[in-house]
Amino acid sequence: MSDKRVTVRRAVEADEAALLEIELTAWDASSGFPSLTAGDRTTFFAERWGPEAFIVAELDGRVVGYIRLQEKYPFPEGAGVLSINGLAVALDARGQGVGSVLMEAVAAEGKRRGARKIALHVHGVNTAARRLYERHGYVVEGTHPREFLIDGQYVDSLDLALFL
Ligand SMILES: CC(C)(COP(=O)(O)OP(=O)(O)OC[C@H]1O[C@@H](n2cnc3c(N)ncnc32)[C@H](O)[C@@H]1OP(=O)(O)O)[C@@H](O)C(=O)NCCC(=O)NCCS
Repeated sequence: MSDKRVTVRRAVEADEAALLEIELTAWDASSGFPSLTAGDRTTFFAERWGPEAFIVAELDGRVVGYIRLQEKYPFPEGAGVLSINGLAVALDARGQGVGSVLMEAVAAEGKRRGARKIALHVHGVNTAARRLYERHGYVVEGTHPREFLIDGQYVDSLDLALFL
């Protein structure tokens, strides 16, 4: 299957409902924090992360995924380091290159902004996401063993980064 059907663009307010639907269904204990993704959320965009922070992916014209890219630090010494603070693809749209297209989009955006690095956190057990990041050149910068207790299991947290 070609990924030509996948397109990306900046999010707009009108994506709210489609993105909320993805948010409420995309995460599980291997990828997110059940207390934060429990399904009682009623809005997607928030004051601190409005549409301008998101790139969305469309598959044949339907919004099926998002990635949130922001400055990692609010002070000038950290300028040039961006942070991926969320990436999710709708369950029925996975395995068709949507995640890959979103990763390419943030790398392009980072270069456009003159950033030197894009950082992110991933659960050690999130093998699908880790494979995706590795394929896109992200390397492990640090490991936090047994950082979280999720559904009775200790989960490592990994710091990954792409050097642009
Ligand atoms: C991680 C996640 C974003 C990946 O999204 P995705 O759209 O399925 O990603 P891709 O399709 O680009 O890649 C996934 C697989 O599909 C394969 N693939 C890529 N392009 C493809 C195509 N055109 N046709 C068929 N398969 C394809 C890839 O090879 C990859 O396989 P592999 O991981 O077994 O090597 C998605 O699983 C998700 O939303 N997970 C829950 C949230 C999450 O974990 N977010 C990250 C938190 S750090």
